[in-house]
Amino acid sequence: MVQGATNWNTESTEEWLQQYVDDWIAFYRKHTHEGEVASYIPVLQEANADHLGISIIGKNGTNIRSGDTDVPFTIQSISKVLTFIVACMERGISYVLDRVDVEPTGEAFNSIMHLEMKQVKKPFNPLVNAGAITVASLLEGKSSDQKLEPLFELLEKMLGYRPHLDIDVYESERDTSMRNRAIGYYLLEMGYLESDLNISLEAYFKQCSIEVTIDDLAKIGMILANDGFDPSTDEEIIPRQVARLAKALMLTCGMYDASGKFAAYVGIPAKSGVAGGIIALAPARVRDEELPFIDGCGIGVYGPALDKQGNSIAGIRLLRHIANKWDLSIF
Ligand code: DON
Repeated sequence: MVQGATNWNTESTEEWLQQYVDDWIAFYRKHTHEGEVASYIPVLQEANADHLGISIIGKNGTNIRSGDTDVPFTIQSISKVLTFIVACMERGISYVLDRVDVEPTGEAFNSIMHLEMKQVKKPFNPLVNAGAITVASLLEGKSSDQKLEPLFELLEKMLGYRPHLDIDVYESERDTSMRNRAIGYYLLEMGYLESDLNISLEAYFKQCSIEVTIDDLAKIGMILANDGFDPSTDEEIIPRQVARLAKALMLTCGMYDASGKFAAYVGIPAKSGVAGGIIALAPARVRDEELPFIDGCGIGVYGPALDKQGNSIAGIRLLRHIANKWDLSIF
């Protein structure tokens, strides 16, 4: 049920919204104990499993923040949405989609089996590791830093500052990621890669190690919700068609083998990362009644205790609750 017939879009109701979100954070924090912090990238184990925070930014700049709002974390797989966007902006949509498909896998994010068994002509989608490493190979540039420069420029435009790499996380993944190297060699054997394997892997590990906050994710989400336009300036940051494609991928593939459930029970585009981040967004809704964030919003969540699929366990439950209470579902 949507809450009441309140006018949710006035300043005084911001206080109400804040109160609700504070209560929900307190409630869902208890669920963090049901999950586990990622350990296969050793440095990620250092995260505090009790942490849970959310930032929601509306089109008019309204910002509701609650819980552990100021803990930086690495973006991990959420970066896959952004490198896909950058690759489409550099190379054109059809060039990229000729080389990476847009089909959900129903498998774990780091699965090789599915690729090999189906003998497909290209990786399934840019949001699983095989697709993301392929996308990294499509980025222009001879070194990993050159490949990632346009990503950093895009981030700077969206966030108003240039985020940095968490070198410890980068080195930790680089030195232990045998699975991604195995995926990389398989991609190389199949002729999917457009540039050197080691440089592509290095770019992939680096993009995953960019440090962000939930406010950053909420801002990016808001721009995607607004079809690639910065709502405060009306500047086109991401071409509309690319933003739409990215959102379709988030909805169908963003939560890996939990994407179907997330679409059914939460109903908004989202993408998770193993450090515990989730980016989500709700487009503007057309309704007679007043609803919170009716003009659309971007959402950033952080909760490093993960479920079996590698998604923030309390973060997903919190998003489900908010989406239901505020009628955010796009369906
Ligand atoms: O490639 C990896 O394993 C990590 N750098 C990223 C995986 C990830 O974030 C999966 N998301 N839930």
